[in-house]
Amino acid sequence: MEKKKVVVLGGDGFCGWPTALHLSENGYDVIVVDNLSRRKIDLDLGTNSLTPIKSMEIRIKRWEELTGNKISFYNFSVADNYHRLFSLFVELKPDAVIHFAEQRAAPYSMRDSFCKRYTVDNNLRATHNVLCAIVESGVDIHLVHLGTMGVYGYQTTDLTIPEGYLPVQVEKDDGSFAHLEIIYPPGPGSVYHTTKTQDALFFYFYNKNDGLRITDLHQGIVWGTMTPETSRHEELINRFDYDGDYGTVLNRFLMQAAVGHPLTVHGIGGQTRAFIHLKDTVQCIRLALENPPHHGDRVKIFNQATEVHTVRDLARKVSEITGASIRYFKNPRSEAAENNLRVKREKFLSLGLNPTTLDEGLMEEVFEIANKYKNRCLMDKIICTSTWTKNIAVDMEGKESPDSA
Ligand SMILES: NC(=O)c1ccc[n+]([C@@H]2O[C@H](COP(=O)([O-])OP(=O)(O)OC[C@H]3O[C@@H](n4cnc5c(N)ncnc54)[C@H](O)[C@@H]3O)[C@@H](O)[C@H]2O)c1
Repeated sequence: MEKKKVVVLGGDGFCGWPTALHLSENGYDVIVVDNLSRRKIDLDLGTNSLTPIKSMEIRIKRWEELTGNKISFYNFSVADNYHRLFSLFVELKPDAVIHFAEQRAAPYSMRDSFCKRYTVDNNLRATHNVLCAIVESGVDIHLVHLGTMGVYGYQTTDLTIPEGYLPVQVEKDDGSFAHLEIIYPPGPGSVYHTTKTQDALFFYFYNKNDGLRITDLHQGIVWGTMTPETSRHEELINRFDYDGDYGTVLNRFLMQAAVGHPLTVHGIGGQTRAFIHLKDTVQCIRLALENPPHHGDRVKIFNQATEVHTVRDLARKVSEITGASIRYFKNPRSEAAENNLRVKREKFLSLGLNPTTLDEGLMEEVFEIANKYKNRCLMDKIICTSTWTKNIAVDMEGKESPDSA
């Protein structure tokens, strides 16, 4: 039987590379497109992946030698090279496209006007180009996009956040009630998150207008760094972001513990966030591919998260395992000091996802990896220097907040 073809846009990245391998392992013909902009941003910021990632050429050669499975790689920008993207769809006629190819760090998107504009230009043009190319090619492609839980916002409500659509009851002029389902009101907390909420509007339109089959995955913060496939050889190693802009909270804490740096909690650490292990990310994407929307369905939205924690509790857990101290810093973000968060996540569970949780010993695995490569850590890149507003920047100069948690 002919293999299903899937194009992975952003397949050199933290989630994209393990996903490309997982799909290749599971019988898909995988084609990666990436302009390596993430590697270039590391160079621009003078930082690096904690793990020594290899070039795409070495990675895919090693994978082919180990498994016999070929992964093709095209180096171009999805935001800038519309015709290459369009021609690729026409030539390959892929069954599906997975779209990771966006600037994905909220702190980076708030650094300065260059980074704000780059994030908007890159992300919105990339997403819109993908949609236009699917329509113009006429190929029946299922688009799977990586969105974020952050599109819902982090304001405290008494609601359990539904998977994308909110049932509402509105009083009509005659006093009776209309029952509707609307897209959950967006509440972006950074320029990056704003691009993700705007992506969702593009999806809404192209689904309604052109009947495109689209799945949008509202993903929590990803932790972990290895999957069974990336663990198969040192040359397949995945990136491990630890710097103040790109490092995500739990991985950062585990790395900080490994290098003997206090855990950097922002504010009082009352931010409640949703999390998912990288091993579950790749499973969810495969499950989304295997369960595409039917023709005529609205955009399918899943909450791709497996558990919810406060930043403060994560720091305590990491401290218990590693003995690291915790330090409370002025919060560089403009956000509520504390919030609650309850999210529905039945859809992936009903498709068979068996969630990996924090208590299963995998934090120790990440800690071990961080320990193994701690000599590569650039200590002066650990603290987050991006601030959300000028006033916060002035207020933060040289200060830490009191140890209040
Ligand atoms: N990492 C997380 O915790 C997390 C959480 C929620 C959602 N997501 C979403 O998942 C997706 C992937 O995240 P990640 O952590 O793997 O990010 P990443 O930065 O490691 O990977 C993104 C990849 O896309 C590439 N890219 C960016 N713009 C491109 C363009 N115009 N053309 C071609 N390639 C381009 C980059 O070079 C990079 O390799 C993002 O869209 C992100 O918003 C990630």
